[in-house]
Amino acid sequence: MQREQTRAALAVMRVFDGAQLRDALAQVDDRSGLRGRTLVAELAYGTLRHWGSVDAIVSCLATKPIADPLLRTLIAVALYQLDHTRAPPFAIVDRAVAAAAEAVRPAAKSLVNALLRRYLREREAIRAKVMQGDVARYSYPQWWIDRVRSDYPENWQSVLDAGNARAPLTLRINRRVATQRALLAQFEAAGIDAEAIGESALILGTPRPVGELPGFDDGAFSVQDLSAQVAAPLLDAGDGMRVLDACAAPGGKTTHLLELADVEVLALDIDARRLARVRDNVERLRLDDRRVRFVEGDAGNPGQWWDSRPFDRILLDAPCTASGVVRRHPDGKWRHRAADVERFAREQSRLLDACWPLLARGGMLLYATCSVFAAENDVPIERFLGGHDDALRETRSFPSAAAHRNGQLLPSPEGAGHNQDGFFYALLRKR
Ligand SMILES: C[S@@+](CC[C@H](N)C(=O)[O-])C[C@H]1O[C@@H](n2cnc3c(N)ncnc32)[C@H](O)[C@@H]1O
Repeated sequence: MQREQTRAALAVMRVFDGAQLRDALAQVDDRSGLRGRTLVAELAYGTLRHWGSVDAIVSCLATKPIADPLLRTLIAVALYQLDHTRAPPFAIVDRAVAAAAEAVRPAAKSLVNALLRRYLREREAIRAKVMQGDVARYSYPQWWIDRVRSDYPENWQSVLDAGNARAPLTLRINRRVATQRALLAQFEAAGIDAEAIGESALILGTPRPVGELPGFDDGAFSVQDLSAQVAAPLLDAGDGMRVLDACAAPGGKTTHLLELADVEVLALDIDARRLARVRDNVERLRLDDRRVRFVEGDAGNPGQWWDSRPFDRILLDAPCTASGVVRRHPDGKWRHRAADVERFAREQSRLLDACWPLLARGGMLLYATCSVFAAENDVPIERFLGGHDDALRETRSFPSAAAHRNGQLLPSPEGAGHNQDGFFYALLRKR
């Protein structure tokens, strides 16, 4: 059986080979139990969140490059633990030394021991030297830092820092099944610390597996960030309306739409496996599945699946870099390349152009991304408006607590009262 540090290091390495962290963690899982799995996940998430700094510290500590990628990553995991966890430093060093001896080679022991102990002795000086570089200081690739700096000249550092915070576990209450007050009481009775936010959300004091929470199996709530909870109310779909959810999976917003009104939804997604999760969620939340058509298809090619009847509402929750949700998915910072932003932007415009003709006159289309990059948000929307005389951008009010500028919501710093991810919304009405 491999040590947790080794499994975390292997998961991190898989991310740099292009895997999503969730999949990488499943691949390194050895079924040794929940505690070990939780620790491996915490180490891998934390190491990736702070990769820019720990990687730079490894380079600074090593007098010659460490050729073995596993050895290098094991040292980075230990540095993450030393700088960002409360585990006793000498226990961290001992475990890293043992992990390197077992997983790399016995002779690696002395190198790991020497580097980590030197770090403990000279931490301040080493950090002062290393943190002069942007990548180490902010823990993002340089292209990402440059983009945020140019999109947010006034507050780029706080946008970057907020993306490195830990996100809370936020729940959306299914008002067809439960009330906020009743669910709070159930949580309290079970000794679970939760706080009511607005009228339909709860934020948990300590994240925990959702399946263990009272009410989950009864469909009383969904896991959904506050920013994502803005979408369905903004779209303002009433009973009997025909709604296209063009990029529906896993169904967080489809189910919210169905909770709020008796709408007829076409839930479309290009990925059949992910689409199956929409159906599962509709079922778990006890929503009426006769109101939903689940269709596998390309939103950019309606000829494949559209019956020519216009929609009253369209939600286009487009695929994006997910740069607004890096606090939940820190692997995204390192998996994406600079060129991905333009690739996503082209795809977003393709989907927007293809969905617009499907909207009835007077109807509304909500364009959404979980990105903070203007190239995926304001830029394609302004370009679209420039080319479509029949499109009008609504400046309808967002929920008062949802801090945003022109539809751009930014990630909140850790512990904020209204704690949200970065998201973008543009509501377009057809004249
Ligand atoms: C941001 S996620 C949607 C999240 C979802 N709206 C929710 O709230 O749970 C984007 C989804 O778009 C899907 N997708 C990507 N390209 C697509 C396309 N061309 N047509 C339809 N769906 C697409 C992906 O499979 C993914 O499930």
